[in-house]
Parts: sequence; structure tokens; C-alpha cells
Amino acid sequence: MEGIGSSHIALLLPLQTSYFVVAQPNNKASKKGKSSMKILKKQQLHTKICSPESLEGNKEAALESIIYSYKHAFSGFAAMLTESQAQTIAELPEVRSIKPSRVHPLHTTHSQDFLGLDYTKPTGLLHDAKYGDGIIIGIIDTGIWPESASFSDHGLSPIPSKWKGQCQAGEAFRSNQCNRKIIGARWYDKHLSAEDLKGEYRSARDTHGHGTHVASTAAGALVPNISFHGLAAGYARGVAPHAQLAVYKACWGLGASCHDAGIIKAFDDAIHDGVDVLSLSIGKSGDEFFSSFHAVKNGITVIFVAGNEGPAPRTVTNALPWVITVASATIDRAFPTVITLANGSSSIVPKDNNNWYEIHHSSCLIRNGEKINASLASGKIVFCYSPLSVSITSPFGYVSHAVKAAKEAGAKGIIIATYGLDILDYFEKCGAMPCIFVDFDAVGQINSSGDENTTPLVKIAPARTWVGGEVLAPKISTFSSRGPSPLLPQFLKPDVAAPGSNILAAVKDSYKFQSGTSMACPHVSGVAALLKALHPDWSPAIIKSALVTTASNDRYGLPILANGLPQKIADPFDYGGGFIDPNKATDPGLAYDVDPKDYDLVVNCESANSSCESIFQNLNLPSIAIPNLTMPTTVLRTVTNVGQDDAIYKAVVQCPPGVRISVEPSVLQFKQGKKKQSFKVTFSMTHKVQGSYLFGSLAWCDGAAHYVRIPIAVRPVISENYADL
Ligand SMILES: *[C@@H]1O[C@H](CO)[C@@H](O)[C@H](O)[C@H]1NC(C)=O
Ligand SMILES: *[C@@H]1O[C@H](CO)[C@@H](O)[C@H](O)[C@H]1NC(C)=O
Ligand SMILES: *[C@@H]1O[C@H](CO)[C@@H](O)[C@H](O)[C@H]1NC(C)=O
Ligand SMILES: *[C@@H]1O[C@H](CO)[C@@H](O)[C@H](O)[C@H]1NC(C)=O
Ligand SMILES: *[C@@H]1O[C@H](CO)[C@@H](O)[C@H](O)[C@H]1NC(C)=O
Ligand SMILES: *[C@@H]1O[C@H](CO)[C@@H](O)[C@H](O)[C@H]1NC(C)=O
Repeated sequence: MEGIGSSHIALLLPLQTSYFVVAQPNNKASKKGKSSMKILKKQQLHTKICSPESLEGNKEAALESIIYSYKHAFSGFAAMLTESQAQTIAELPEVRSIKPSRVHPLHTTHSQDFLGLDYTKPTGLLHDAKYGDGIIIGIIDTGIWPESASFSDHGLSPIPSKWKGQCQAGEAFRSNQCNRKIIGARWYDKHLSAEDLKGEYRSARDTHGHGTHVASTAAGALVPNISFHGLAAGYARGVAPHAQLAVYKACWGLGASCHDAGIIKAFDDAIHDGVDVLSLSIGKSGDEFFSSFHAVKNGITVIFVAGNEGPAPRTVTNALPWVITVASATIDRAFPTVITLANGSSSIVPKDNNNWYEIHHSSCLIRNGEKINASLASGKIVFCYSPLSVSITSPFGYVSHAVKAAKEAGAKGIIIATYGLDILDYFEKCGAMPCIFVDFDAVGQINSSGDENTTPLVKIAPARTWVGGEVLAPKISTFSSRGPSPLLPQFLKPDVAAPGSNILAAVKDSYKFQSGTSMACPHVSGVAALLKALHPDWSPAIIKSALVTTASNDRYGLPILANGLPQKIADPFDYGGGFIDPNKATDPGLAYDVDPKDYDLVVNCESANSSCESIFQNLNLPSIAIPNLTMPTTVLRTVTNVGQDDAIYKAVVQCPPGVRISVEPSVLQFKQGKKKQSFKVTFSMTHKVQGSYLFGSLAWCDGAAHYVRIPIAVRPVISENYADL
């Protein structure tokens, strides 16, 4: 708590209610606003030092109850205080705001099931980046299972000399259990109660499994002969298999809750320890991790999940402009099952009678504990479809209960018609019973095979593994959270999409499929590590720009779709720039770099000369969002040439419908060592419309390999207080 540099003070009070206290800059009285800008401001990170000493009478009490002190993220501390102590502190002039310390959920959906990740081919980037050799990826999560084959350090380089971290011993985790793969392990449990720690190892060992899955996805070693019941057989390995891991266990318990106090301490340590990339599969909508700001200012690329609250709009979380926010997508591997139908009364009733089953129709919209009528469903295949409610009922709500009820009713299988086809995690409890998702087109076929007098018969073949171009992929996963950010609509989010549906990775001593943006996030962390290995001079902003501007919007000429209701062609609120293309990201041509001072300006926009709106708009991000286009608006951007020296780029604009975009200048020349060029993008309405987001893009094209595209989202507004009745 030396209070070097800037800071705020963070007090945590987990006795009854937990609070989070932020110091007031310049000793002004606290303002407690609620707008997005005020939220940014409220959590302002660049405030005058407010050391515990300035808390006068509370000094002793505060000092005694300190559990963590923060040095690198900012100076301040977390402490256990009573509510009345908190009250006193809240009234001090130095205190800017007091708020509860939040608990953040992990983004995961457990699975034991089908679909997997085809990531076995070494790409150009992988090879050229020496598989991530020399790069340290920090993982803030539930810890790690050090014995997993994915964390073998066979063939890895020695621990980099820049590493200043430690391998903290604890329960069932010796300090010599770190190796050249897991180079550091720390854990934070001081803020937790005995209840929170039930069933937990008081060490970096991962009880939950999530942290191990994420870490092995980002940087797991090559492990041969892995499959899930024979499906998806092949190698398991991380995206950057030679990168090294620094583990920060800040999420605890079977519910894996992550408290601010631990997360901030983990950020603080990661900055001190010297990680290059930080991966956080944490967050829920409405929460933002402002402490990530200091990590990025220290040159760390910070990668976060977009959240699993899709497909509804305005669900994206972790929308801060300095982090990379990752959406989830499917991959080109499927585990299809052939369903054969027969007309029960026709003469071609199949001979191999044992494998044919009658269908029992059910809505399957059942809650936990409810049953499917066994005298109707026993020995049959339950077919779940309810046209009236399918569109308003998320598969999250009922599928796993339906599976359980079908099993208890003695059914021989279950076929579920739903729009959420990309997440098989619900089938965890199927065991040997076939569980199948079908789309709505299959409903007609299954039904038309029977009539009033006959019962259709079905036969289900075992699932096969299918990889390649016939599987339309990627598609944005149903659950992946969508933009715009409810808190910070000025920043287009998410940034990119990566594989997150049905990812096979390490959990304890085995391998499991899991789905979620939690699984997508470490893919991007691995790619960021590879890019950092190849381009050590790239800033976090350049790494992000390279990923966003080279991301793809189609595959084999087919657009990337977004699963949901209805399924549609994906737009920037589904996947930002698009689905990551790691090899293209090695050579983006131009990059949108950000001077870290500009982040300060964003955070302190209320005390700047320009309006917050214009500061946000002109932050040099690889995207443009205008949530409120009322009059012609000009946005500034600067690109840095990271490709060959002499280059000429021309602007290629795709206007959102009804919006005119002009780019000035529309040709950029880079020569004689000139690396940076600035330009203006002016938006105006050609057709006045009210209140819907429209999408477009701006690309800089050199006529050769480089097509540096950024996504644009504009919402024209005629009247402020207008509701479309
Ligand atoms: C791969 O694993 C399977 C089942 O776990 C085993 O039967 C087989 O012998 C293994 N193959 C190799 C090459 O290790
Ligand atoms: C099923 O077979 C019967 C007898 O052949 C026929 O009358 C009926 O139309 C068929 N139903 C369907 C839906 O094909
Ligand atoms: C189950 O179905 C049978 C046959 O239609 C019916 O007699 C019975 O009442 C049903 N049981 C329940 C609990 O609905
Ligand atoms: C499918 O067929 C069954 C039985 O013939 C019927 O009860 C049900 O309403 C049908 N559903 C649809 C969506 O057509
Ligand atoms: C604000 O504007 C004044 C007058 O133009 C200038 O002196 C000052 O440096 C500006 N402050 C900031 C933070 O840009
Ligand atoms: C939209 O823009 C107008 C004019 O620039 C401004 O007065 C208004 O506050 C803005 N509204 C929002 C929600 O940002």
C-alpha cells in the first residue's frame, strides 16, 4: 500500500454485506450517478492517492482488518470491516463511492458430451511463433490440476528470466508441483468463509474443473489419443502448446464464485509477476472489471468472455474498451445421428423389431422434479416439440429436466426440437440413452411419418464424428451474449468470436466437453500469446486490432450465421469483427494502436475539455459505435503501418442502410518511414429513421493481401423520447 502513482482505495467488507470503496479524487464530495459515463467515472482509477493513513480515526481499524494490499493495479487495500466502520469510512471526504464487493460467476456450462474442437493442425502462426514459446499466459480462475497430462513440461524452455512470480504451496499442492508449464500458482482465500471453502482445496488445486479446462485450452501440451467415448478422437492440446501458465485461483467452491477482492489481488500479482496475456472466463452482465485497466497499461493483453446470456440483445458483459471481449461459436465438427422413420401400419414395418421404437409426443416443458407419464412414455422415444412455447422457452430452462424425466419414465431415447442445437451440455445425464437435438425442419418429417391411426416408428443410429466443410460452421453459439453493451454502448462489443461450443479439454485427470464463452476466451488468449511471441513489440491494442480487422465474416463463401431465434446472418453485435483468423492476424497490414494515456482520458472524461461522448467515439479502437446519431458526426481514427514500408491503402466503405459515410482522406500513403496516418469518418443520415441499430464496415485495402476491416454499428435517432408503438 505504498501508494506509488495513482490510485484508489478498495475496502472489502465481507462480514454481512461486502462493500467496495473508491477514493474521491481531490477530496471532492462523492457523487453517486448511475449513467454509463458516471459508472466509468465512479470507478475512476486515476484518483489522488488515498492511503489508509488519510482515514484518520479509522486508520487502526482499517489497517488491522486488511486482508490484501494492492500495489501494482493501484494502491489501496481490501479489508474486513463491520458495517458501521464502513459507514464511517463512506462519510469521509476522501471516499468517492462505496459499493458492495460483487461476486462474479464463471462462464461455463458443463458437458460430458458430443461435439468437439478440431484444432490439431499446426498453422503457420503456430509454427512461426514457436508454439508460444517464451510467452506467459495468466489464468484467473478456479485453479489447476497439475497432474493432468496437458500440463507436462516435456520439451519446454526454461522459465523466462522476466518471471517474478511464485509457486505458492497449499493443501494437496506442493511448491515443487510447478514446472516449466505451470510456472506459477497463487491463491486467494482470505476473504472467504468456512462455508465458501467447503469441499475446496486451500491451494491452487482446482476442485471445480473450470480453470483446468480453460488453462489446457489456452496452453495445454500435446496429449495423444484423447477421445470422448470414441468421439472426437485425436490429440488434445492448447492453442499455444509451448506457452507457460501462471495460475491465479480467485474463484472458489462448487459454484465457483469469484469475489472482487481476490480478482483484484490476482490482477495485482499478475502485473508484478510479468505475465504477457491474462485470460478471464469470468463476468456477468452489468459488471465491469475496471482493474483490468492497469494490466493493459502495463502491456498485458487482457481477454474476457462476452457472457452466456444470449441470444437476447444487450447481454454482453466485460465491455471495457481496453480488453478483448470474446463471443462463442461452433466449429466444423458435428456428431450427427441418423434417424430412420417408418409408418407403423405399412407393410414395410421393419423386421429388426428390437431397434424400432414408437414415439411419444410431449411438450417436455417440465421443471425440475416433474415427471413424464411412464405408462405413456415407457419403452418409447420421447419427442419434444411444442410449437406454442418453443419460441419463448430457452433450452437452458427445461432440457436437462426433460432428459431426466424421460429416463425415469423408462423411455428408450429423447428427440428434442429446439433452436439451441449447439450446446449438448444439457445431455450430461443421458448415459447410454440416445439424446438428440433436431431443428424445426425435422419436426415435419418426423410427424408426417404417422397419422391419426398410426404411430410413427423411429430408429436411432449411433452418433458418428463428422468433420469438415459439410458442417456449416462457424455459427455463433445460441448462448453467446450479444451487443450492444447495456453499460457502455459507445464501444462496439463483443470484439471477436472463437470456438466455444463443445470444447474437449482437461478436467482433473481426464478430458471433457464443455461449452460457453468461457471456452472461447482461452482460444483467443492462446492466439494472443502466439501473436506476442511472433511480434514482441506489439501493444495489447495492436494485438486486438490484428484479431478484429482480420476476422472472417464468411466461410467457403457462406456467411457466418448466428444461432438463436430466428437463426440469422451474424452481425457485429454477435461477433464484433468476426470469427478469428489467427494466421491472417500475423500480418494485418495496418493496426489501430492506442496510447495508454487515451484510456486515462476515457476514464477521466468528465474532467476533460471535450465531452465524454466525443472522447469515447474518438478512442482509437478497431470498431465504431454510434448509439445516438442525431446529427452529422465525425469520428477520428489513426492507423499504424505494421506491414511493408511503402504502401498505399484505399478506403472501402459499406454503409449501414440509410446512413452516409465519408472518409477523409480516402487514400492513405505510407512512405519514407511514415508509420501513422489519421483520417476522419463522417456519418450522416440519408434517410431519417428512428431507433434501430444498423451495421456496416470500413476497410483499408492495399489491393493485395491486406483488407483491414473494422465493424460499424450506428443507431440513427430523430427524437430522444420516442417509443415505437
Ligand atoms: C488409445 O486409447 C484407447 C482407449 O483408451 C486404447 O485402447 C488404445 O490402445 C490407445 N492407443 C494408443 C496408441 O495409445
Ligand atoms: C401409412 O400406411 C398406411 C397403409 O399403407 C397408409 O394408409 C397411410 O396413409 C400411411 N401414412 C402415412 C403418413 O404415410
Ligand atoms: C398416465 O397416462 C395414463 C394413460 O393415458 C392415464 O390413465 C393416467 O391417468 C396418466 N397418469 C397421470 C399421472 O397423468
Ligand atoms: C404431431 O403428430 C401428433 C400425433 O399425430 C400430434 O398430436 C401433434 O399435434 C403433431 N404435432 C405437430 C407439431 O404437427
Ligand atoms: C483544456 O483547455 C484549455 C484551454 O484551451 C487548455 O489550456 C487545457 O490544457 C485543456 N485541458 C485538457 C485536459 O486538455
Ligand atoms: C443523443 O444525442 C443528443 C445530441 O447530441 C444528446 O443531447 C443526447 O443526450 C444523446 N442521448 C443519449 C442517450 O446519449
